[in-house]
Amino acid sequence: MRLAQCHNFHDFRQLAKRRLPGPIFNYIDGGADDEVTLRRNSAAFDTVDLVPHVLRGTPEVDLSVEVMGQKLALPFYLSPTALQRLFHHDGERAVAAAAGKYGTMFGVSSLGTVSLEELRRKHDNPQVYQFYFHKDRGLNRAMMQRAKDAGVNVMMLTVDSMTGGNRERDKRTGFSIPFKLTLGGMAQFAVKPAWGINYVTHEKFALPQLDEHVDMGGGTMSIGRYFTEMLDPTMNWDDLAEMVSDWGGKFCLKGVIHPDDAARAAEAGCDAVILSNHGGRQLDGSIAPFEALEGIVDQVGDRLEVIMDSGIQRGTHIVKALAMGAKAVGIGRGYLFPLAAAGQAGVERMVGLLKDEVERDMRLMGVSKVADLSRDMLRKR
Ligand code: FNR
Ligand code: LAC
Repeated sequence: MRLAQCHNFHDFRQLAKRRLPGPIFNYIDGGADDEVTLRRNSAAFDTVDLVPHVLRGTPEVDLSVEVMGQKLALPFYLSPTALQRLFHHDGERAVAAAAGKYGTMFGVSSLGTVSLEELRRKHDNPQVYQFYFHKDRGLNRAMMQRAKDAGVNVMMLTVDSMTGGNRERDKRTGFSIPFKLTLGGMAQFAVKPAWGINYVTHEKFALPQLDEHVDMGGGTMSIGRYFTEMLDPTMNWDDLAEMVSDWGGKFCLKGVIHPDDAARAAEAGCDAVILSNHGGRQLDGSIAPFEALEGIVDQVGDRLEVIMDSGIQRGTHIVKALAMGAKAVGIGRGYLFPLAAAGQAGVERMVGLLKDEVERDMRLMGVSKVADLSRDMLRKR
């Protein structure tokens, strides 16, 4: 299978599986425990059907939205994810460039492998910086200042990862950063020599958002240890309110799923909440964001913007979320598999395919702009 033969999420997933060493593919693909939530995230979209209008005269379709003060040409953006240069040697550079080409927003993870400054310098589309809250408050302030100096548009604090999820696929393969593989895991790298050659012949692996601030011990600090030793499990709503005011710009809270928490985020001064269960990678058995969306929009939609991610694979998933009341949606694996499959060209192709799907779906729904999608066009099964 080649790039031109990839027509959807599933095709790209297959191609990524062929290109990547097993432990890396499974790190991206997998979820927590029995992966019930991982499956549910996408299946949830099938619990609601579209009820299109006809004969509405929709010659032009405008896909643009404005969220958190940012103008996006598309109603979906590329959510922050860790370790992208491990998936393809261009990593975040490829993802930011593809997002730029389509005029949408991209996220840079705290565990990103290209510096937020470099990405900000090279691309002028909206950039979100994803943050984890550390025990060391001075460190939090220094990292926020750095993001401010770089010109990051939106701060995104992830709060569903107070501890790492139980990813049993990673336990089996031995996947961790730095690499510590089981014998079986090592054999998997040997059978994907093209990936190995690219990896060793390109810039050395690094975590530039953290390297400056955190002693990664020359690579001995694992991500698991980073989560348990550096992040602050006592963080509460007062800490959030303080962080929102320290940042002083657009701020969103990622990983909210309870309606009461969305209300508290509004009280703390957040501009948006991202309903997310981290793509089913954290608490298995937790509700799918699409299922939580309606109630949360009703409860807090007039006080902050409600955005969602997790499980989005299709244009119709995006259209359903927007019709239910989301202001925009994020995708994760939906661009990571294309990145692994074919770098920037892969991400561009997938974003283009999704754009075409949403545009076609809106035409078929009789809708010419995102704000016209509404709940009367949805029916629950
Ligand atoms: C993630 N996600 C994530 N989120 C975050 O806030 N910081 C991070 O560093 C990462 N890293 C990360 C790595 C990988 C491999 C994946 C798959 C996901 C979660 C991500 O931003 C998003 O919430 C989910 O990926 C959305 O679900 P889908 O689209 O993958 O189903
Ligand atoms: C993950 C972390 C890094 O989901 O957010 O793997």
